[in-house]
Amino acid sequence: MALLTILHYPDPRLKKVAKPVLAVDDRIRRLVRDMAETMYEAPGIGLAASQVDVHEQVLVIDLSETCDDLRVFINPRILEIGGALLPHEEGCLSVPGVYDRVERPERVRVAALNERGEAFELEAEGLLAVCIQHEMDHLRGRLFVEYLSQLKQNRIKTRMRKLEREPV
Ligand code: NI
Repeated sequence: MALLTILHYPDPRLKKVAKPVLAVDDRIRRLVRDMAETMYEAPGIGLAASQVDVHEQVLVIDLSETCDDLRVFINPRILEIGGALLPHEEGCLSVPGVYDRVERPERVRVAALNERGEAFELEAEGLLAVCIQHEMDHLRGRLFVEYLSQLKQNRIKTRMRKLEREPV
């Protein structure tokens, strides 16, 4: 397994649109394992392949506190989305240190493949619904900060560029 480098906003590679996975093979399973390790190490609750500069439709999510409930979504598609628009405080491993409220529909039903290439459907609400929508946005090249005002986005960009220049 290997830790992958997470791209940081406003890196233009985060805007690439991810392509469908053509075959769920050992290469994809290795990517899933590396993404999971990278997410746990960060630590975070979700990671899209786009964030590690792999522009294929792969997501990992784990909302458990014990890091033992990994959910893998390959080629996820939204089947249904609905309910009230609910605000939720979001953050992102590609925008470290920034948290802000984004409104999203409360329920979502998705179809995807797991790491064995098996199709499944899932109906989600609450944090899982937020997380799935946030991560699926990454695959379209969209970050949560893009839902915020232009003023806030400019401030975040300035802050991120300053952080990147500072030695760790
Ligand atoms: Ni994110």
